[in-house]
Amino acid sequence: MADTVGQVIKCRAAVAWEAGKPLVIEEVEVAPPQAMEVRVKILFTSLCHTDVYFWEAKGQTPVFPRILGHEAAGIVESVGEGVTDLEPGDHVLPVFTGECKECDHCRSEESNMCRLLRINVDRGVMIGDGQSRFSINGKPIYHFVGTSTFSEYTVIHVGCLAKINPLAPLDKVCVLSCGISTGLGATLNVAKPKKGSSVAVFGLGAVGLAAAEGARIAGASRIIGVDLNPSRFEEAKKFGVTEFVNPKDYDKPVQEVLAEMTDGGVDRSVECTGNINAMISAFECVHDGWGVAVLVGVPHKDDVFKTHPMNLLNERTLKGTFFGNYKPRTDLPSVVEKYMNEELELEKFITHEVSFSEINKAFELMLRGEGLRCLIRMDA
Ligand SMILES: NC(=O)c1ccc[n+]([C@@H]2O[C@H](COP(=O)([O-])OP(=O)(O)OC[C@H]3O[C@@H](n4cnc5c(N)ncnc54)[C@H](O)[C@@H]3O)[C@@H](O)[C@H]2O)c1
Ligand SMILES: [Zn+2]
Ligand SMILES: [Zn+2]
Repeated sequence: MADTVGQVIKCRAAVAWEAGKPLVIEEVEVAPPQAMEVRVKILFTSLCHTDVYFWEAKGQTPVFPRILGHEAAGIVESVGEGVTDLEPGDHVLPVFTGECKECDHCRSEESNMCRLLRINVDRGVMIGDGQSRFSINGKPIYHFVGTSTFSEYTVIHVGCLAKINPLAPLDKVCVLSCGISTGLGATLNVAKPKKGSSVAVFGLGAVGLAAAEGARIAGASRIIGVDLNPSRFEEAKKFGVTEFVNPKDYDKPVQEVLAEMTDGGVDRSVECTGNINAMISAFECVHDGWGVAVLVGVPHKDDVFKTHPMNLLNERTLKGTFFGNYKPRTDLPSVVEKYMNEELELEKFITHEVSFSEINKAFELMLRGEGLRCLIRMDA
């Protein structure tokens, strides 16, 4: 057993002191895990666009100083009272939305919106006692979505940790902890395209390309990628996207362009941009009678979705999802197995790698729209 058990651990963390200012690597104190909590040594983390929104805090509630990060892989260091299904040494993926296994949502086959542990972007403390486990000179530093993986050690509720195959390479399966599972599940679990159908994917970042991968696995015959950034199209060819549309190339709404390309609309669409206009287009581009649109992107807190009700009356369905409707503890281990069985490739999503001390470079890449996922190695 590690000699840190029950002790405060001093380690490096990347602290967001203020909105939009570069993160600062600081020495933080990480308190031991309390009841139903687990302290995890993070080995790899990667940057998802959701981290960037809450760091910029332009369309979100500012909560600072904060340790961001939610896409990661690590090893259990110690467990708090009452934790029975994880022990030191277990390999885990943290997930921003949890699974208590007891509430009505966890017992429902349809939902992953756990009543106790569903995503809460404004809370910066642990749910057990309303305190933070991070501090610098006694001053608390806030958590982010219950994970705060931009730290060498973090404390996470046991319900937000998926125990995975110890043979799975953590530097690869790290990206299954948010983006790739989210996109894949949005298509396979929520949009559910039929074989031979057409699927539009709005936003060709890692989440959108994972959604495209889901469409390919489901046997879609046309996968239409929509993005404003033309450099995305070259990359997207590796992900089974068959056609590309840049809304900037047309002087009419992109939903009309897609309707013309597909004789009335696509069978399914998956929105992975976070832009409210793209969300509306993604809904309005699906075929009447059977089309289903799935929203995945995280909107600004004041955004309002506006469409004519006739679009719904005409038998279109609008849905949304967190984490691709996967239940983190029950379902994520089997998504990891899909990678282990070579049914799912993860390497192509990891386009960059930086050391933890260079974490701000990962933010710069995402802001410039370069690459997909940037892996951050905590040991360097
Ligand atoms: N619902 C969930 O559980 C969940 C989980 C993870 C990420 N997300 C969200 O999914 C979205 C995608 O995340 P990512 O990490 O892949 O981001 P990303 O920045 O890598 O990719 C987003 C892509 O969308 C494109 N885009 C932006 N506005 C557009 C518009 N109006 N029309 C067409 N394309 C547009 C960008 O050019 C970019 O290529 C983000 O909003 C993120 O917060 C949601
Ligand atoms: Zn994410
Ligand atoms: Zn629950």
